[in-house]
Amino acid sequence: MEQTVTDSCNLAWQLSQVSRATREQRHGHPGMILWLTGLSGSGKSTLAYALEATLHALGGHTFVLDGDNIRHGLCRDLGFSAADRQENIRRIGEVAHLFAEAGLITIAAFISPFQADRQLARSRAGQHHFVEIYCRCPLAVCEQRDVKGLYQKARAGLIRDFTGISSPYEEPTQADIIVDTATLSIAASVNYIMQQIHPLLTLYPNSAKKITIA
Ligand code: ADX
Repeated sequence: MEQTVTDSCNLAWQLSQVSRATREQRHGHPGMILWLTGLSGSGKSTLAYALEATLHALGGHTFVLDGDNIRHGLCRDLGFSAADRQENIRRIGEVAHLFAEAGLITIAAFISPFQADRQLARSRAGQHHFVEIYCRCPLAVCEQRDVKGLYQKARAGLIRDFTGISSPYEEPTQADIIVDTATLSIAASVNYIMQQIHPLLTLYPNSAKKITIA
């Protein structure tokens, strides 16, 4: 069996004296991951930042992890083969988990085209701390929008392994929330998600701080 770094270096997990629950009490809401998945151009990033602004304005402690940004740094060594996407999502899943442990509402916006990789991120986070949000938008609409001009390049054969064109997107079968980003405005999408996640946000009703939405 392959030996991992963890096996070979005699590493031991160190525990903090500050528990996750203590951090969450202080923030007034649980740490969690809101995981946005969908085709390129389906509106994930726009929605992620709009959602963050709303949560922040309500007193939430938030951070957005976005595909294009993360690929400039943490995952700059990765391309778009199936193996690289798998590693991309594995790393993001780990980072998102750490951020959630720190008590943040972590909003991850990645195509994350493979069911198994999204499932891995969910199991790493724990079922109750992970909300899979499918930004559902038909390929034809994403392609017509073509905000970054990438679909045109992909159709012309200038970009390999492009999701929806020459690389698969596995539609979520167990999304916690589905947002029809082809038809809903950003404001309506945010509003819909806020209504859906409200019960999760109010897990600490006795905290000095708490998030309340209208
Ligand atoms: S993922 O498939 O590994 O989850 P990720 O969300 O990090 O992808 O990055 C997607 C972004 O990379 C797209 O929004 C687009 O701007 C850019 N991109 C560049 N090449 C590709 C490609 N071959 N397929 C999809 N997106 C690409």
